[in-house]
Amino acid sequence: MSSSLFRTKKIESILAECADDLHAGDLKRVLTVKDLTFFGIAAILGAGSFSSLGFAVFNGGPGVVILFIITGIACAFTALCYSEFASRIPVAGSAYTYAYASFGELFAWVIGWALIMEYSIGNIYVAYSWSDYFTSLMGKMNVHIPEYFCTSYMEAKHAIERGSGHAAELAAWNNAPIVAELRIILDLPALIINFLITYLVYRGIKESRNFSNVMVVLKIAVVALIIIVGGYLIFSNQLFSNWTPSNNVGVKSFMPNGFSGVMMAVASVFFAYIGFDAVSVLAEESKNPQKDLPRGMILSLVICTIIYILLTLVLTGAVNYKNFDGVGDPLAFIFEPQNLNVGWMQFLVAIVAVVAMTSVLLVFQMGQPRIWMSMSRDGLMPPVFKKIHPKFKTPSFATIATGFVVGIPILFTDKTFVLDFTSIATLFAFVLVCGGVLLIPPKKKIGGRFHLPYINAQFAFPLIVIASIIIAWAISKTYFSDLFIFDYSHDKDYIMGNKTFMDMAIPNISLILFWISALLLALFAFVKKYSLIPLMGVITCMYLLTGMSKSNWVWFISWLILGVIIYFLYGYKKSKLAPKNNT
Ligand code: ALA
Repeated sequence: MSSSLFRTKKIESILAECADDLHAGDLKRVLTVKDLTFFGIAAILGAGSFSSLGFAVFNGGPGVVILFIITGIACAFTALCYSEFASRIPVAGSAYTYAYASFGELFAWVIGWALIMEYSIGNIYVAYSWSDYFTSLMGKMNVHIPEYFCTSYMEAKHAIERGSGHAAELAAWNNAPIVAELRIILDLPALIINFLITYLVYRGIKESRNFSNVMVVLKIAVVALIIIVGGYLIFSNQLFSNWTPSNNVGVKSFMPNGFSGVMMAVASVFFAYIGFDAVSVLAEESKNPQKDLPRGMILSLVICTIIYILLTLVLTGAVNYKNFDGVGDPLAFIFEPQNLNVGWMQFLVAIVAVVAMTSVLLVFQMGQPRIWMSMSRDGLMPPVFKKIHPKFKTPSFATIATGFVVGIPILFTDKTFVLDFTSIATLFAFVLVCGGVLLIPPKKKIGGRFHLPYINAQFAFPLIVIASIIIAWAISKTYFSDLFIFDYSHDKDYIMGNKTFMDMAIPNISLILFWISALLLALFAFVKKYSLIPLMGVITCMYLLTGMSKSNWVWFISWLILGVIIYFLYGYKKSKLAPKNNT
């Protein structure tokens, strides 16, 4: 049995099967490198920058820029690995398909399962953020939506339980109509936008593409305006001292809460980057996927990294980082009267935030059905998931199913929960994609296709690991011994948002595991002469995983266990690679 769990698909057979399945209802090959880059930006630039950036900056101060750079580098390594796979296996399915060709079926299923977190659950966060901006935009136009129809049930309930001072959430709970002893509190705008996006994606790729491209141009223009206007006002008002603010004990620093404060923002910062990989699921709709997918991914990632660095500098320069406490619309907030005081920018940002997040929703809502379509082709999901609509040429059933998977949890989850869940699952998938590249055999260079350069890591990687150990030790002589101290009770006053230092105690275990893995990888690199780029992808994404909290890990591992159970109940037997289905 163990060998059948790791049964892998040959790249040639993945390509051949895809061609066979498509004969009945071909997806349209219409996307160019420009469209793919636009799709990348459409997916990347959204709730992360328009909403969760406020939380990140409040925790880490201006030093969050460093985290954006580290995360950007980790994502760049990962994008190169995605590109290598995408140029070898240009079919929809993304990381799932890649894992099938490298690690085998069980891992492929696990990745497909984790990607539900990235695509569908991530979209729940974006839908909530969309609703926040939409509601505030309506407010600016004097249209009041009752709080109980624009707040999630869980947020209102938690606000009451915690004795929060958040007026809208308390109003939602206190004013909600009660039916059969149940308070009717739901985020109606989030549900409606999910319905509309599902409909659009169901109707077809071309319509979606045109809509998406317009939205991307608009949001880049406004983000550029925020950077220019904000940057100009920072310089003309000489607000530079905000970049080295005082912390709670009066010390001025770029990282007022130290590096641990910066690392508390990992889930938010990483969420802002999620999306470049979504480009890879459009393989079967691209004109020249082997060349254009890698370009689209890398271009969109580079553009967004530059935008994030500039945005963070503008935000933290315009306003003291401590003022971002509980601010869900940070890009509009900096222009409020008590801050830079530019009324028209507040309004413009609110409009474009709604547009920006709509485009994110669109891309992920397109990605999820295409991954399920690939899983269904392999027999790991019921055949109906690969059904292509005869007229619209889209995976129709899978698209509607996605609408439900996003829509139903909107009724009973909240923003923080889905944000953390999405980030941890996506990072996990990234580690496996980069690791997968190490396992596939080298390929011949073919002109016009992306080719991941091989840099021998035999000495370079062990040297990087040793240098990192020395640097960590030089910065703090007690760094390594501190990893084994699990009692943070003396740091109980270190409370940020809803997370306490106790909740962060897990990083010690994950940091210990991280350093052990780094040493093991260095050993493997030395013995097997692995390629440096994927190794760097694995290690940088693993490092970001050390920033996740204990509760994130508990939820995520439970989700994976559920996935494995489902695999054994269905996919293991129905897989096309199962001996009885393979004859
Ligand atoms: N990166 C995407 C966003 O920020 C998911 O909305």
